[in-house]
Amino acid sequence: MPGDQMASSLIQRIARQARTTFKLLPLAEAARFHDNLQQLGSLLQQIQAEDLNLEPRRSQAPRAGPPVTYMHICETEYFSMGIFLLQGGASIPLHDHPGMHGLLKVLYGNVAIKSFDKDEAGSGPAADPGAGVQFNPPLRQCQLAALYRSLRGSTEVLSQANGPCILTPLQNNMHQIDALDGPAAFLDILAPPYDPEAGRDCHYYKVLQTVSQSPGKANPAPPPEQEAVWLLEVPQPADFWCGGEPYPGPKVVPDGEVESVSPVLVT
Ligand SMILES: [Fe+2]
Repeated sequence: MPGDQMASSLIQRIARQARTTFKLLPLAEAARFHDNLQQLGSLLQQIQAEDLNLEPRRSQAPRAGPPVTYMHICETEYFSMGIFLLQGGASIPLHDHPGMHGLLKVLYGNVAIKSFDKDEAGSGPAADPGAGVQFNPPLRQCQLAALYRSLRGSTEVLSQANGPCILTPLQNNMHQIDALDGPAAFLDILAPPYDPEAGRDCHYYKVLQTVSQSPGKANPAPPPEQEAVWLLEVPQPADFWCGGEPYPGPKVVPDGEVESVSPVLVT
């Protein structure tokens, strides 16, 4: 593709803007960062599946193969970008993005994103796990080290018409993504990329039920917004796995960066 055509493709402009934005991390110039992040969000608002030569998959019935497929677009030291395709009814289980920012833009289909904030302490297991809280079923002693407190976030249902969903190191940092009403796909930008050696590994969680929320309790009060939620770190669920397919869209070369050849297949 000639250079001027590559420069004009929307996904190439998104990659350049992502590099410009996330090169500003760690955050030293907040106003400049947020201005650039807004520009990146505006570009993502415009992207459609056809811009990426992506044919929406319409089949309602689950097909053979992985429930989730990743198309790697590019990865630099500042950010990674790719496309996740979910079969109808597929789910990316609750997971985190330690110390990372991210933007998620739906390309087709409908997805429900259930997000949780990290608590104000920012990281690590709750200092006094479970104090004053009873779980159903009760936790074993050995599970306390994997217990985290979070704050209830929100559940959004997004389609192509919606703007990007944004996560930060604290806000919306943990999420579960479910495909509703058939297959769905979204463009995913993470900054910096996952890197277990730098402390940015992907962890999976399940939401614990407290005794006060147990079924059968008379008229349990609905959980208020921002109520503390208890999460238990768990191994990657056995029914979740992610395959890979080649990215079919315009070539993307973030300026001055060399593409990674070994993307990490997590969101
Ligand atoms: Fe994610």
